[in-house]
Amino acid sequence: MFAQYIIREMAGVFGLASAARCLILLCMEKPDRPANVSDAKSSERTRRPEPAPEMTGDRKSPHVDIRWLKDIERVLITEQQLARRISEMTQAIQRDFSGREMVVVSVLSGTVMFLADLIRHLNLPMRLDFIGVSSYGAGTESGDLVFTKELRIDVKHRDVLLVDDILDTGKTMSRVLEKLKALRPRKVRTCVLLNKAARRVENVKADYIGFEIPDYFVVGYGLDFAERYRNLPFVGVLHEHVFKEAQKSPYRK
Ligand code: IMP
Ligand code: MG
Repeated sequence: MFAQYIIREMAGVFGLASAARCLILLCMEKPDRPANVSDAKSSERTRRPEPAPEMTGDRKSPHVDIRWLKDIERVLITEQQLARRISEMTQAIQRDFSGREMVVVSVLSGTVMFLADLIRHLNLPMRLDFIGVSSYGAGTESGDLVFTKELRIDVKHRDVLLVDDILDTGKTMSRVLEKLKALRPRKVRTCVLLNKAARRVENVKADYIGFEIPDYFVVGYGLDFAERYRNLPFVGVLHEHVFKEAQKSPYRK
């Protein structure tokens, strides 16, 4: 009854196509605090959840192009959750880095959205540089990494914050850290939006972690599969059919 009422109302206001799209998105969206995601700090788990994002019309729905709707199984972390957590992370970083000009080193390209939101709230003198890391062609495990973009800023005796999108096996982070440390910075701290601890191979940890997530392949908010989905404003779970059709595991680059 209620569903019929909603369809009738939405169809009246937005037209049938928009109403159908809203309903698909309503079904996709999970409650505010997904059972499988946690903020990194355990004390924060007891906080009151914020209200679910409003999904009452196209304008406020997650912006997913109709051609991508079937590729995203569900939203794992909403825009609101991302914004709130990143602002908390920024405050912690600010406390730890106050007093000296810092250098933020960001790993290309998955950090694009996270980095922009992080540094816009970072009220500290800083310089920004990028480092590019890629695996050696299709089907290569992330063990065989090559640097595609070198640092331009001299980080010797500097306080460095290394930013990456996700800590998975840890191979990327440990290679980048090794390279950075050889440049003799005064200190290096690591910051990642997502931590997939279940897949860790290397003994590496991040100092600042946005969210702990289970072993899902996720896209959006900068993260990609085959260079797609980076512009989704939320973190979502990629539907299995996408990598089955691509005939390669998302864990092979
Ligand atoms: P690692 O070297 O295995 O830790 O992988 C780190 C890199 O793999 C990240 O910087 C991402 O570019 C990519 N990656 C790992 N897991 C995912 C995922 O779930 N979605 C998108 N990219 C991922
Ligand atoms: Mg990456």
